[in-house]
Amino acid sequence: MPSNNVKIDKRRPTPRGGKLAPDPELWEAIGRGDGLRASLEDFYAQVFQDDRLAPFFEGVRKEFVVDKQFSFLRSILTGERNYFGNHPRRAHAWMVISDELFEHREDLLEQTLLRRGLSAHLASRIRSLNEIFRGAIVKDEPLKRIVNGRTIPTEGYESIEIAVGALCDGCQGEVSAGDRVIYHVRTGKTYCLDCAPEEGTSLAPLTT
Ligand code: HEM
Repeated sequence: MPSNNVKIDKRRPTPRGGKLAPDPELWEAIGRGDGLRASLEDFYAQVFQDDRLAPFFEGVRKEFVVDKQFSFLRSILTGERNYFGNHPRRAHAWMVISDELFEHREDLLEQTLLRRGLSAHLASRIRSLNEIFRGAIVKDEPLKRIVNGRTIPTEGYESIEIAVGALCDGCQGEVSAGDRVIYHVRTGKTYCLDCAPEEGTSLAPLTT
């Protein structure tokens, strides 16, 4: 029978253990928050220029992804529970990422950290941390998203008559209420019929 005197401090959750245990040595060596943010800005500047990775980030702001990745890694390295984004499985649900592409991203991150002066053994610890999520991210087809019993499509275009006027995401020309447009089912990018992508076009490559 539990004692009435035992108080549980809910503001201090138990730190994660195992492979996701806090890593104060790495946190210090990377330069704490300032160093981590500068490293991620450097890393994503390259990702957004990379022929194979950049297409996944179409329509995503670099600052957004730096911020998310920053709080994700800060939370793991410090043990503070202050990451409120999606779990990597959910965040990458629509992305078809091969083992090889996953490793390419890991190489890029590791090289960035080494170039910024992190020692080889600590840079490889960041790599091991990414490895924990490989199984959640690498896949050969998108995960199904089911909302209210309906499977939400993740890829491809559909055609509708729009109810309110808008600007075409291709030519920036005006499309009026009642016009037929083509829109991407995941991103919502909308095109007038002159700019409509060809049938079978995929906005971001689904295979690598
Ligand atoms: C080739 C590998 C990867 C690609 C192409 C990729 C791509 C992306 C993209 C495009 C987003 C933005 C999603 C959106 O805003 O809709 C994202 C978000 C994110 N990624 Fe990755 N990613 C990769 C690997 C990883 C790995 C290894 C991790 C961590 C272990 C990771 C952690 C995250 C996190 C935490 C977010 C933010 C989640 C949120 O929306 O709340 N990613 N990634």
